Formats: sequence, C-alpha cells, structure tokens
Amino acid sequence: MYAISLGDDGAELRPLEPWHAEEFLAHLDRGREFIGQYIGFGARETDVDSARALLTSYAEKRAADSGSLHGIWLDGKLVGGVLFRTFDAAQGNCEAGCWLEPAAAGRGLVTRAITVLIDWAVDERGMHRVEWYAATANGPSINVARRLGMTRDAVLRESRLHRGVRHDIEVWSVLAPEWRAARARASRGDH
Ligand SMILES: CC(C)(COP(=O)(O)OP(=O)(O)OC[C@H]1O[C@@H](n2cnc3c(N)ncnc32)[C@H](O)[C@@H]1OP(=O)(O)O)[C@@H](O)C(=O)NCCC(=O)NCCS
Repeated sequence: MYAISLGDDGAELRPLEPWHAEEFLAHLDRGREFIGQYIGFGARETDVDSARALLTSYAEKRAADSGSLHGIWLDGKLVGGVLFRTFDAAQGNCEAGCWLEPAAAGRGLVTRAITVLIDWAVDERGMHRVEWYAATANGPSINVARRLGMTRDAVLRESRLHRGVRHDIEVWSVLAPEWRAARARASRGDH
C-alpha cells in the first residue's frame, strides 16, 4: 500500500486497515499498559476479532468521511498511529489523536505524523479547526499539542473517569490561518 515517509529514519505513515488486525493486536500487546495510562484506546481489543472490529469501525468512518486511522511503521514494524477521531467537513472541525508503543516514544514520530494530517486537513479538505483533547496529567500529549503550535482553549474539569480517577481534560486547537502562518514562518527560518 502507499506510504508517506516521515523522515530519514525509516518511519512511515500508512493507512491502518482491517487486514492489519493481527499486526495491530501484536502492537497493542507490546504497548497496552503505556497506551492506556490516560485513554481507553485499544483497551477492549484483546483478540484478533476485537482488533479487526476497531479497525473496521475506522474504515467505516473513513467511508463516511467522518474519521480515519493511520499507522506509523518504523523499520517495517507497526509502532503507533494517529487518527481523526472526528471529522466534520461541513463544519470545518475535526479532532486529532495519537498513540505509540513505549519503544517508539521520544523520537518525534507523532509530532511528524500529526503535521502530515493537519497539512492534509487544512490544505486538501479546507478544515478550519483541528482539536486535541488530553488529560492535564498526560504531559507528553500536552507537549505534542504545544509543539504543534496549538492554543489551550479550555479545561473540562474532572470530566473523564479513567481507571477510577476523574481527570481534567484540556482542549487545545489550531485554526487554519494560524497553521499556515506558522508553516510560512518555519519555511522562512523565523521563530
Ligand atoms: C502522547 C504520546 C504519543 C507522545 O509521545 P512522544 O514520543 O512524546 O511524542 P512525539 O512522537 O511527538 O515525540 C516527541 C519527543 O521526541 C523528541 N524528538 C526527537 N526528534 C524529534 C523531532 N524530529 N520532532 C519532534 N520531536 C522530536 C522530542 O524532544 C520529544 O521528547 P521529550 O518529550 O523528551 O522532549 C505518547 O506519550 C503515548 O503514546 N502515550 C500513550 C497514549 C496517549 O496518551 N495518547 C494521547 C492521547 S490524548
């Protein structure tokens, strides 16, 4: 299948589809504890059928143009992914998200992959607002939002119950004109 290079370190972004169920399950099993610290993603996917069901649900979202799932492969191994959890082309709003297995963290893979997604959403699909939801306690995810140049819009106090703890959830976003301006500054080498 087609792949987008994320740099010169062998990292690639590819569609993550139902036929990847076994590979996706093996990846989730390597990362389960780390991935599930603040989010429920992948927690119910404990066998090939449930893993395929999650991938199929995203294939259906993609067919409906209401979301999509993309895997990150490093040297040919699935190590994480990025997604549009929601995608509302009529309103111009979408929400992006991400996960990695622990061995793939700390290399900028998600920041690079989300940049590809936002470029596409803004340039190809005319999206106006890309959102990012993360628990305040999830420092690495908040740092991704900050690194992408997003602005913190709000804190939804104690709004997510996860593993018996109520978490504050931060809403971050970037608007299309902000994204384009930051990209132009970066290409000029400005700060
Ligand atoms: C959220 C999560 C994906 C962040 O992973 P991450 O590796 O910190 O994020 P990135 O892939 O963007 O990498 C950034 C790190 O790589 C470093 N890095 C190296 N090369 C880089 C590059 N070219 N570009 C950007 N960052 C780079 C950065 O300095 C940063 O490291 P630091 O935090 O130690 O400073 C990860 O913690 C995770 O999967 N958590 C579990 C699932 C989850 O909570 N998902 C988010 C739901 S809201």
